[in-house]
Amino acid sequence: MSSLSTRHLLGIKQINEADIQRIFETADNFKAVINRPIKKVPSLRDITIANLFFENSTRTRVSFELAEKRLSADVVNFSSSSSSVSKGETLIDTVKNILSMKVDMVVMRHPKPGAHIFLSKHIDAQIINAGDGTHEHPTQALLDAFSIREKLGDVAGKKIVIVGDILHSRVALSNILCLQRLGAEVMVCGPTTLIPKYIDQLGVKVEHNLDKALAWCDVANMLRIQLERQDIKYFPSLREYSVQYGLDMERLNRLDKQITIMHPGPINRGVEISSDVADSEHSIILQQVENGVAVRMAVLYLLAGQVG
Ligand code: CP
Repeated sequence: MSSLSTRHLLGIKQINEADIQRIFETADNFKAVINRPIKKVPSLRDITIANLFFENSTRTRVSFELAEKRLSADVVNFSSSSSSVSKGETLIDTVKNILSMKVDMVVMRHPKPGAHIFLSKHIDAQIINAGDGTHEHPTQALLDAFSIREKLGDVAGKKIVIVGDILHSRVALSNILCLQRLGAEVMVCGPTTLIPKYIDQLGVKVEHNLDKALAWCDVANMLRIQLERQDIKYFPSLREYSVQYGLDMERLNRLDKQITIMHPGPINRGVEISSDVADSEHSIILQQVENGVAVRMAVLYLLAGQVG
């Protein structure tokens, strides 16, 4: 079984371009599998995977569970709201107890940035990061880049703008790292208060005017305002944000070209994106979700080669 250069998928930071290309080629094969009448392969029979979600999720949790089941893995699901975490158990104790039941791999979402890196120093099982606070969301970035490759033929040379709450977004950092590694040009766009101060160190363009950003790009990835991570007000009102940074059909129609619209979900319709744009032919939002299963199958399959 071929593999990746790392034991875990902790972030895009820890993988190289060859890893990403291997994931994409493997995902191409799995995408063909999941579009067949029989969507299952026996690749991970005898592998047990625990999905540990310490934070809410719809897409990522369902997508990982489907990916695991389509690879014939045994799956256990854990969510912190119904667990003994509320009784004061530490992260390491919780995970070590689950692993002692002969679990081989861990998929984890955690609100604390770096939780996966910390955990990887204390346990032997393979760890896949399903989102850690405001830090990274590597499988989202991989499925986003895979979807751009599918839609536009290649990622290299493409111009991609990430719009919105860059400051609180794990999707933004993982996307920037992944897209740059594949040779794309990346811009971030949003109000000054939602662009991190360190952004210059990432080698991305910064634009505060959405119309100029849209005129520049081939692809616009619209992010949700992460109100649950904002302890202070970063802009006067959602209505004002929407007027300046919301993507609607009127804005799209002003462009003299067609661009591809993406969103990692969950969408706040009428805030960062209007319903007519989200549901339009320009949008690949549901293709991103579909591709997520194939990409996660590829990551699981390639890391499972190192179980043992
Ligand atoms: N894109 C994403 O991570 O969505 P969920 O929070 O629903 O998993």
